[in-house]
Formats: sequence, structure tokens, C-alpha cells
Amino acid sequence: MESNFVTHLDIEYNEDVLLMISDEVKYKPFTAKTRLTEEEMRDRFDKSDKKMAQKNFFFDDKNGWLIGETVKGYEEVNRLVEYTKSKLGDVDIRPRFYVQKKDVFVPEHKDIGTECAINILLSDDCAPITYKDFGDIYYKCALINTQETHCVNTDVERILFKLSIMDMKYETAASRLRN
Ligand SMILES: [Fe+2]
Repeated sequence: MESNFVTHLDIEYNEDVLLMISDEVKYKPFTAKTRLTEEEMRDRFDKSDKKMAQKNFFFDDKNGWLIGETVKGYEEVNRLVEYTKSKLGDVDIRPRFYVQKKDVFVPEHKDIGTECAINILLSDDCAPITYKDFGDIYYKCALINTQETHCVNTDVERILFKLSIMDMKYETAASRLRN
């Protein structure tokens, strides 16, 4: 069922402002290598996921997938964080921007340390997220289950504002956001 993976959300946000902020943010390449040592990677993935972990570990396209985390102090970002907390309670939420360049393939993975996330796609044409156990799901603004194996293949530049939720399961967050 699609709702086990993605819950579409009708949140108010200012796309133009988010796009402007995404322009100001300083990006650095996101590679699994910069985040986890080989030992940490072994600890966090069980045997069945090992192949996937290897793939993820070797994602090291220096310019294709970028993360920007300097988003504190922006009113629109703070507002969206506060809105989410008003729905979910006191959770650890980390606002981030991502840019995935045209034709870059982000291989199958589960997000590291992130249970679920509210994703807002800021580009006009949005590539779908592809779940191993479901297939393609198109969305614009949605709660995403980041602990189900997924990948993203995009043929346009993909700009994403993401509120990473570190400590609440997808199912719990989804039911609270629906109300
Ligand atoms: Fe992901």
C-alpha cells in the first residue's frame, strides 16, 4: 500500500522563499564515505542489507548529490520546523537542503539515522522516489518512509527541502500528521 511508504501532505509553505534559501545555503558533497567509517557501516547494516550498504558506501560522486545544512535562522524554515513539532511533539528535526544533479542516480539505501522525513520538492518536474518493495511514487510534499529501501533517479536537477525526523517512526509520524 502506497501509504506505508509515502503520505502526501497538504502543508502551507512558500516555495519561492525556500528556493531563495536553497540558493544561499552552502553545499558540500553528500557521500556515504564522508559520514560513516567502514566499521560503522558494518555495525548498522545486517547481512541481508550488506550488498546495499556496499553500494551506498561507494556513492562518492563528488558533485552529483549535495547537502546543505546551514539553514538555521531562516524564518520560513523555523516556521516549518515549529509546525511539524506542533503536530508530532518534541522530536529531533533537522532541516536540510539537497541538490541532486541531472542524471545522477542515488542508489538503493535506507537513510542513516533518519526514521522518516517531510520532503518538499522545489523543482518543477519532480522525479519519483522508487521503493524496492513498491515502485515509483510521485509527490510534491510528503512524509517519506526513509527506513524502507529506496533510490532516486532523476533526469532533471532535483532540489529538495527536507525535514529529517531522527527519532519518530514513520507510522507514528504519519498518523499524527494526518490529524
Ligand atoms: Fe534517502
